[in-house]
This record gives sequence, C-alpha cells and structure tokens, in this order.
Amino acid sequence: MDIKIKVNFSKNSKAEGMIDLHTHLLPDWDDGPDNWEETEEMVEIAVKDGIDMICLTPHIFRFSRYQDSQEILEARFEQFEEKYRIDDRVKFFRGGEVFIRPDLVSQVKEKNLSLNKSEYIFIELPSDQVPIGTKQLFYQMMLEGFTPIISHPERNEILGRRPDILYDFINQGCLAQVTAMSLTGEFGLEVQKIAEIFLKNRLVHLIASDCHDTSRRKPILSQGVKAAAKIIDLEVAEAMVGEVPKAILNNEIIPDLGSPINPVSRKKFFGLFKK
Ligand SMILES: [Fe+2]
Repeated sequence: MDIKIKVNFSKNSKAEGMIDLHTHLLPDWDDGPDNWEETEEMVEIAVKDGIDMICLTPHIFRFSRYQDSQEILEARFEQFEEKYRIDDRVKFFRGGEVFIRPDLVSQVKEKNLSLNKSEYIFIELPSDQVPIGTKQLFYQMMLEGFTPIISHPERNEILGRRPDILYDFINQGCLAQVTAMSLTGEFGLEVQKIAEIFLKNRLVHLIASDCHDTSRRKPILSQGVKAAAKIIDLEVAEAMVGEVPKAILNNEIIPDLGSPINPVSRKKFFGLFKK
C-alpha cells in the first residue's frame, strides 16, 4: 500500500516561484561560469524557468581556480551582491558545496560554509566512493549542530549500487539533494533509475539544478519537478523546490516528507514471497 505523504504548505506557496538551492553562478571561481556575462545569461535562464530564489553554492575544497582562497571567494561574493543588489527578479543567498575531508568539522566551524548561515551544509562526496569514516564525520557535524545535505547521491557510484548506505545516512538525520537533470535522464538512464529509486523511497528531500553553465548544465528546475511528479505526488515534488529549500534558508525544520525506506530490505522482503 502506498502511504500518502502530508506536507504542510504555507498558504501562499503557490504564488511563489521556485528556489534553486544548489548552483554554481559565481564567475571565475570553480568549474562554473568564466565571466559576468555568462553568469547573467544563467540568471536569465533561471528567471525564465520560474526561479526567484537562488543560493550560490560554489565548490569548496574542489575545483577552485584559486586554491580556495578565502579572500578571493569573499571578493567574488561581494562583487556578486553589489551587482545584483537591486535585482527584482531573483533573491540571492550565500552558501557553498563542501567537498568531504577528514578535518571537515573544524573547517565548517572555522569558515562560514553553511547555507545562508543556517545549520544546513551541502556536502559533496567523491563520485566513485564513500570514504571510510563518512558516517562518523556526519555524526560529528551533527554534534556541532549542523545538518549535512548530501549533494546528488544518485551520481555517486557506491550509493547507486548500495542505496542502503544512503538510507543509513538519511536515517541518521542527513538530508539529500537530487539534481533535476538526473530526474530528466540527462545524465543517462542508469542515473535516472537510481534517482527514481531514491525519490520513491524518500531518500532525497530537495531538487536543485546544480547549474554550471548556459548550455549543458543550465539552471532549470521545472523539468525536474515534472519528472518527479510522475513518481511521487505533485505537491511533494513542488515542495522539493519550494517549502523544503525555503525552510533550509530560514534555518527551520523542513516539512515532513515521510520516513525513509530502505530499498534493499524492502526488495529482500518481497523477495521472500517469490517462488
Ligand atoms: Fe555542485
């Protein structure tokens, strides 16, 4: 039996646009745009798609063109905020996508790496592994009052093969973000299937674009929501680009999307009935 998920929407949620919580829009910092022209083109694409809030999440400890210089990153943020201060199309927030490392907890405490100064932090894993000690690192982060949000777990080779590991992280209190392009199949059929399994089993909580440019990795969410709504309730899919990221930016508890399900144990359970 399928359990209906209850989401507590605020009354005016339908009138609001979408929130893109994971973006690479700062120019000349990581593998995102090279210049301000490209950044502006990306903003225009986002606006056209109906996005009206964007969190800037530049890569930290990975892909930095300037060895993660805090000074240069701060300057980029300031330039961005100056440039888009009076922008009435989109509201921007500061954040980051932090690559996992052994001293993660002290780095996170020392530098301001969370999303809009909330307790929520994007954590990126290597695409081909889940480093030993990841669970303990997440636990330590939580002890310090932070909530890790795992970036695009559907694109991680290990988590794709072993969804029970992701279930373990989510059960522990982590959140996870699925990328819109994974849901639409633009990263291939295998990633799409994995994203669907994660979505069905409530192992992901928000949809973001993880945009990098104006051609291959655009800031588009609507197609991802449409694809998600074929798998889960439309109102839950919409919450994943609305109520959920809004709560995160406001440093509030996210709406209850239902308890996570371990896809592996469920598969095994139903396997018992097979002849
Ligand atoms: Fe990213």
